[in-house]
Amino acid sequence: MSTQTTNAGAHGPDPVARRMIAANLAVVGLVLLLMMLFGILMRMAQGGWLTINDDLFYQFLTIHGTGMVGLAALGGVSVMWNFASHYMQVNGKVLVANFFLFLIGVVLILAAIFWGGYGGAWTFLYPLPAISGGIWSAGAAFWYLLGLLLVGVGILLVCLELGRGIITTFGGLASGLGWPYLFGMKNAVVPPKVIVATSMSVIVTTLAIIGGAVVIVLSLVNLMVPSFAFDPLWAKNIIYFFGHTIINATIYMTVTAVYSILPEYTNRPWQTSKIFVASWMGSTIMVLVIFPHHLLMDFAMPTWAMVMAQILSYTNSFPVMIVTGFGAVALVHRSGIRWDMASGLLFLSVFGWMAGVVPAVIDATIVVNSVMHNTLWVPGHFHFYLLLGMIPMVLGFMFHSTRDRGEGTVGHVSVKWMVPVYAVAGLGFVTMFLLGGANSVPRRWAVHLAEWMVYDQWAAVFAIIVTLMATLFVLRYLARLPRYLAATD
Ligand code: HEM
Repeated sequence: MSTQTTNAGAHGPDPVARRMIAANLAVVGLVLLLMMLFGILMRMAQGGWLTINDDLFYQFLTIHGTGMVGLAALGGVSVMWNFASHYMQVNGKVLVANFFLFLIGVVLILAAIFWGGYGGAWTFLYPLPAISGGIWSAGAAFWYLLGLLLVGVGILLVCLELGRGIITTFGGLASGLGWPYLFGMKNAVVPPKVIVATSMSVIVTTLAIIGGAVVIVLSLVNLMVPSFAFDPLWAKNIIYFFGHTIINATIYMTVTAVYSILPEYTNRPWQTSKIFVASWMGSTIMVLVIFPHHLLMDFAMPTWAMVMAQILSYTNSFPVMIVTGFGAVALVHRSGIRWDMASGLLFLSVFGWMAGVVPAVIDATIVVNSVMHNTLWVPGHFHFYLLLGMIPMVLGFMFHSTRDRGEGTVGHVSVKWMVPVYAVAGLGFVTMFLLGGANSVPRRWAVHLAEWMVYDQWAAVFAIIVTLMATLFVLRYLARLPRYLAATD
């Protein structure tokens, strides 16, 4: 006998959390625009439309990667907190601590990059931070890594508080994931979809951040005491465990917006089922062990790890994506849904997530990977599900939270056009990365050959359109925010 939980009598974010979520999303919106600008500058430089020196290109690459991953995590935990707190009590003051750790971390990171010249990319691959060939100092690498650590600790605090809430309300993380219900245990509670997704995100993000923090701390010691060394292959494994898991987890966090908002629009319930719980169970385990698909080119890795990475990369994403994708389509089909900014962006996000995984799975195939992994194919796949999947989930939540129906015009153009234009330009942008990759254009090269530039130039044009749309989305959100906060006080 199982009982389906509802959110009757639940609280939603407390007043402190409501303000912090709004503040976080305002920061996410503004940082997103700034990082997009750095992205455009890189694409224009690769396309020969802009001359910047190579060191500056790698500083842009570092700030863009770090900033985008950081804002994805901040946006992810904010959206997840908002919906999870409808089912349990969590202390909003943790979001205040996270906010300040994030800001201090960002200041250190910006100073290390633009003042200290650090350009070793957000993947801080040991021992690169310490051996810059004279381009940046050990001090710059130190402050960069310390900044990253502070941002990570802030996100970790949020995950621990959400984990505490799940344990006290649902009796444990396994119950939050719905395992007792899945295995037919007596009196098992059926957790809401949001709690299943939150439990999974909390588990995998906590483990990922702890792994990343260990390597960062060791790297900090290495920067202070250069004779202290550790195994670079081990470090690479842990770093990719951290990086791959955390950026994936941001989508699992923000999908809580899809699970919560789409049913409101369609007036249809979207209940938790055993297939849903089983899919999330599979992904919880697999997302933690598939990271070696980033190391398929490292000949020193054991063969079993590579084979496992390939097979599990095929199976990891599909269960959750399929239950979410089919669920969303079934929910919307003939529902008479009202299409506006929030519903449009959320539906786009499900498409972006599902479609973006296809090139990822192709890249995880060993024979393809050994040719494609260091090409623009890889930024092609992750920009696909981040730009057209994760970011629209956050933007959709922004519009929903400020009750913005997307009415009115910008100049003479109806606001309703903004989502389709963002979608088409976004598709164009990621297609240029994928085409570049399919034609063997290497990734992370500041300077491109003339025959590659056509992809870069089209990408720059599409990116400018995407950024213009994103600017309008964010400005609209910021303009409505004070009224929304005053109304909910
Ligand atoms: C207008 C939108 C965007 C533009 C123009 C853009 C542009 C770029 C460019 C040019 C690169 C370097 C590609 C190379 O290896 O040569 C890059 C890398 C990257 N981008 Fe974006 N991007 C955009 C949006 C995003 C979004 C929304 C995210 C995540 C939320 C993101 C995350 C990343 C990451 C993690 C990297 C890898 C950095 C590295 O290789 O160290 N980008 N982007």
